[in-house]
Amino acid sequence: MVALNKFVKAIVFACLVAPLCWLGWQISLELQQPGSALGADPGEAIVHYLGEWSIRILLFAFSITPLRRLLKSRELARTRRMVGLFAFSYVVMHLLAYLFFYLEFDWSGMWVEILERPYITVGMSALACLLLMAVTSTRGWQRRLGRNWRLLHRLIYAAITLALIHLWWLTKDGFEDLVVYTLWFMVLLWFRWRSVSQQLH
Ligand code: HEM
Repeated sequence: MVALNKFVKAIVFACLVAPLCWLGWQISLELQQPGSALGADPGEAIVHYLGEWSIRILLFAFSITPLRRLLKSRELARTRRMVGLFAFSYVVMHLLAYLFFYLEFDWSGMWVEILERPYITVGMSALACLLLMAVTSTRGWQRRLGRNWRLLHRLIYAAITLALIHLWWLTKDGFEDLVVYTLWFMVLLWFRWRSVSQQLH
């Protein structure tokens, strides 16, 4: 049982690290031969790439509970915290890439962007929800907050909703991925709503 837990965790971990390895590889190709791997604007490509993986991993974290029920897998449930922390880390890297490539770490410029660009305000709000969840994800906080811990971790609903609003706001063409992410979220909401209503009856 312990071996199976470790095996499932290792597989999930490898899947979550793989996109970063691929990005590292593309950056090294780009450094050797500019324009060969990341297109005309490598900074933009990196910001977008990290953003795409942020939303995918966030949705994956939200899928674990229904998947666990469908597959009757307790091992998968044990990966939930790790997946959540990875989602948070990807968003932080997305933010850092944006600060580096778009703003060159001009902090005052960042406050102007947060105030003036609604899609940045919404993205930062999603990040704030994830930050609260990441900080309180430890056993110690779970014990300290008791029943309120579950309530606080419902912030995942707000974080994904805000992330999707961020995406709908900034996307100008090529809406296919966005439609898939939104449908994925809606199916998960339906699944959760169905299991709550089954428990009530
Ligand atoms: C949960 C939080 C977030 C998620 C899931 C997310 C996701 C994404 C995705 C998928 C894209 C690419 C869209 C495309 O390819 O068309 C993107 C772009 C972008 N995001 Fe985020 N984001 C989040 C938070 C943030 C935050 C906190 C910031 C910065 C303060 C930010 C700034 C940007 C910027 C500047 C772009 C590129 C816009 C452009 O080039 O036109 N995002 N985001």
